[in-house]
Amino acid sequence: MNPLFAFDDDPCRALAAHHGTPCFAYSGAVAEAGFRALRAALPARVRLAYAVKANPHPELLARFASLGASFDCASIGELERVEALGLPPGRTFFAGPGKREAELRKALEMGVRVQAEGWEDLARIDRLADREIAVNLRVHPAFDLDEGNRIIGGSGPSAFGVDEEDVPRLLERAAALRHVRIRGLHVFAASNQRDAAKLRAIHGGVLDLARRLHETHGLAFEQIDLGGGLGVPYAPEETPLDLAAFGQGLSDLLARHSWFSGELILEPGRFLAGPCGIYLARVVRVKESRGTRFAILEGGINHLIRPLLTGQPFPVKAVGKGEGDVPYTLAGPLCTSLDRLGEVRLPELAAGDLLVFGTTGAYGLNEGMTHFLSHPVPPEVWVA
Ligand SMILES: Cc1ncc(COP(=O)(O)O)c(C=O)c1O
Repeated sequence: MNPLFAFDDDPCRALAAHHGTPCFAYSGAVAEAGFRALRAALPARVRLAYAVKANPHPELLARFASLGASFDCASIGELERVEALGLPPGRTFFAGPGKREAELRKALEMGVRVQAEGWEDLARIDRLADREIAVNLRVHPAFDLDEGNRIIGGSGPSAFGVDEEDVPRLLERAAALRHVRIRGLHVFAASNQRDAAKLRAIHGGVLDLARRLHETHGLAFEQIDLGGGLGVPYAPEETPLDLAAFGQGLSDLLARHSWFSGELILEPGRFLAGPCGIYLARVVRVKESRGTRFAILEGGINHLIRPLLTGQPFPVKAVGKGEGDVPYTLAGPLCTSLDRLGEVRLPELAAGDLLVFGTTGAYGLNEGMTHFLSHPVPPEVWVA
């Protein structure tokens, strides 16, 4: 099987016949294999917290939970999905730059570890809590070791966390809090990174920052959360992350930072969910316009928004038609010329042909959309 696609041609045909198109399909076996491979490569002192935003499908969450995963949530909708798993307290984290009071209340009720993104989170938790609450402090570092990654935003201004240079002032204020204790650090500084050496450098930067905060401010960290950002290939020429090298990098860093005896947390979303998914859609029409061949599909950026955001198409093949070299612009059904899934090369297409897109298990029905869907949808008020 091509690792970019979680299903071969025959299962794709069967899924389309049984469920209709367009549809997303996820393979529990592929998800489990990915989780086990990553787990096996990591030192024991690393905890895996699946980033629910990547794909909050209940079966996927249940499968990861059965494998011992913790969970990283970023909205009340995600917290509720994890709550439904009935996990013991301490296996869930809650990050997000705009946590509302109801969400924080829910997190406290569930015994969730909050990644405090600034003074407001700390002060609100302190007001809501009736007992000591350990939180992690999310810091936006001054270094940028994943240069040019616009999802992370580099070392410039950020909506996430506390700027590194503002940490001393924040800690002074936090000393007066009655219930909240900062017991961990959270720094997310990579995105879709498939280079183990770069990840090691980025995570090394985070541990160096943790040591500075520990030495300068006496912060005792039970955990250091390195966020997500483990990459997956989206094209045949892209090489997968070398898990052995990645795991070795983390072991080396733990050995180098012997002052730190707590656990490292990783919050992979894309890496764990991406490869298990496919998206199936049929060609509705093929048309040629001024020298460009369009294949117009049943679904477009309303289902796969990533190509619009990144300019990179998902891997795609025409089920049962083998390789081909005809250039097509893939368009969706929306009445906007933004609705494009990419410029690709496929065999000659006709209406009714089934296309399968690979690696759509994470940020497929999203790269934003599951984020949107698990936040409350606002009412629409009609004013005559
Ligand atoms: C706090 C946090 N953790 C983890 C993730 C997952 O990142 P990735 O899918 O790159 O592993 C994200 C993604 O936005 C995030 O914001």
